[in-house]
Amino acid sequence: MAALNNGVSSFVLVLLALSAAPLAVVAGDPDILTDYIIPANFNPANITGDFFAYGGLRAALTGPAPVNFTVTKASMAEFPALNGQSVSFASLFYPPGSVNPTHTHPRASELLLVVDGELSVGFIDTAGKIFTKDLATGDMFIFPKGTVHWQYNAAVSQNASALSAFGSAAAGLVSVPVTVFGTGIDDDVLVKSFKTDVDTVHKLKTALTPPPKKP
Ligand SMILES: *[C@@H]1O[C@H](CO)[C@@H](O)[C@H](O)[C@H]1NC(C)=O
Ligand SMILES: *[C@@H]1O[C@H](CO)[C@@H](O)[C@H](O)[C@H]1NC(C)=O
Ligand SMILES: *[C@@H]1O[C@H](CO)[C@@H](O)[C@H](O)[C@H]1NC(C)=O
Repeated sequence: MAALNNGVSSFVLVLLALSAAPLAVVAGDPDILTDYIIPANFNPANITGDFFAYGGLRAALTGPAPVNFTVTKASMAEFPALNGQSVSFASLFYPPGSVNPTHTHPRASELLLVVDGELSVGFIDTAGKIFTKDLATGDMFIFPKGTVHWQYNAAVSQNASALSAFGSAAAGLVSVPVTVFGTGIDDDVLVKSFKTDVDTVHKLKTALTPPPKKP
């Protein structure tokens, strides 16, 4: 009888594990039923190796160094062949003292590789615990999916560069400062949320409201 019960509970456990499996798949980019996805405006007969190649990071990796912190993305928006492949990339450049401000990627974890200089990085988990690390050239850091994180080049004169891989073709970016202070949330809500005064909220709003996008 005990053996039968064990057999039944193992069977139930297997069923539970199987029913949980589709949830794990849904948590990433959707799976596709073709090798790749051809955009609607492309003639399938015209697809060549060019479609699967993207040169948009060339300037970032071989051109002159930018003056400010710069991110160059290679996601589905820039590189349509990534649609359905669940991966994307970014090249990041940090002049001395620059920061990639606190942000999250709602649809992907990020694996960052420092290719030049040094970076101080960190993230906060959903329990509110902070994790930080000083990285040297060649070091990697994983920012878990959806967590608030940042990178900082604290050096006085040395630039830093990194490459980041994402587990989604469209990782998405939510900047914490711009989302909170640059999108028109009511002053009262911000004053109460941050336990501060209207003047402070206005200062932050002025600093973080993005300039209107040029057409
Ligand atoms: C596909 O290739 C043909 C012949 O080279 C060309 O005439 C046509 O414009 C191309 N179509 C697209 C959608 O690029
Ligand atoms: C650092 O980047 C700046 C541009 O922001 C560039 O002018 C300078 O040459 C770079 N320094 C080094 C050591 O590569
Ligand atoms: C660099 O950042 C400064 C300060 O935010 C800004 O005034 C300047 O226009 C930026 N330069 C470039 C080339 O984006």
